[in-house]
Amino acid sequence: AEKWVYMVTAQTPTNIAVIKYWGKRDEVRILPVNDSISVTLDPDHLCTVTTVAVSPSFDRDRMWLNGKEISLSGSRYQNCLREIRGRGGEVEDKEKGIKIEKKDWEKLHLHIASHNNFPTAAGLASSAAGFACLVFSLAKLMNVDEDASHLSAIARQGSGSACRSLFGGFVKWEMGSKEDGSDSVAVQLADEKHWNDLVIIIAVVSSRQKETSSTSGMRESVETSLLLQNRAKEVVPKRILQMEEAIKNRDFASFTQLSCADSNQFHAVCLDTSPPIFYMNDTSHRIISLVEKWNRSEGTPQVAYTFDAGPNAVLIARNRKVAVQLLQGLLYYFPPKSDTDMKSYVVGDKSILK
Ligand code: PMV
Repeated sequence: AEKWVYMVTAQTPTNIAVIKYWGKRDEVRILPVNDSISVTLDPDHLCTVTTVAVSPSFDRDRMWLNGKEISLSGSRYQNCLREIRGRGGEVEDKEKGIKIEKKDWEKLHLHIASHNNFPTAAGLASSAAGFACLVFSLAKLMNVDEDASHLSAIARQGSGSACRSLFGGFVKWEMGSKEDGSDSVAVQLADEKHWNDLVIIIAVVSSRQKETSSTSGMRESVETSLLLQNRAKEVVPKRILQMEEAIKNRDFASFTQLSCADSNQFHAVCLDTSPPIFYMNDTSHRIISLVEKWNRSEGTPQVAYTFDAGPNAVLIARNRKVAVQLLQGLLYYFPPKSDTDMKSYVVGDKSILK
């Protein structure tokens, strides 16, 4: 019997949206109600590392997340696996006696081991890095000949935000207009070197898992929030154009104004949802006040903030000097004692856009 195991390991960073995705027009294909823009973090900080293996001795597909076996039966995993399998190419390693033909991918089973180096499902976009890494590593394993945008459309079917992690730098997820989702893909706006003065600091306010998953939160917002409809139709399209300009020109004042306004509107939509969804807590609100006061007192913005589906603050400092001052401020106002809920700080080195 054939005894070989063939495996590939990949590492994928997470991304943080500065113009948020919130709301699906198609829940199965994961098609959004608006475009979004994000920044991909430095691969060494918040990331997922995934090893995928194939062997004729595996009798079924299995996956372990952070060392614990999880079920692959959900449609998100099944859709990603099916899409990638259908595109598998030929793999040959004469030395190891491995020869896999295109048609074999339908029969061969996979073992997948994935690790996040940060809290899972705590509103730190763990699913973004996770599904991007899954699709990327499987594409490598199966010798799939598709560019990053095509792969992004597959990762999107695992988790919407995952499509943006297939690229570094600044990335736009175009909502697309086709029913089959083939034009709902990520495109790179600027690479990781374009604006590398920026430093991202993530203040982990709580690493507890969120109470409302983004999937059910979005569904409830789409069904009940009028503000969401106005946001998707009237507000975001203009903001996307302005944000693209701000990124192109490295215009930090506009970048900050747009990021903060968009984060606040996303959380306002959550409040406008019935029943209301609370992702931020008192500590999050205090961080916002602190940054707003600081930016006002300086006359020109120094730090942008954005919050995803959780209380943790993503703070983007205009440069390294400001980042150091910001950290000092955070440590002064939120001393990390064991009895506070401000547990730790994750600091992006040099720039997250290395
Ligand atoms: O891709 P999901 O289902 O994890 O949704 C992510 C939603 C936000 O993180 C709140 C916003 C975004 O654009 O990433």
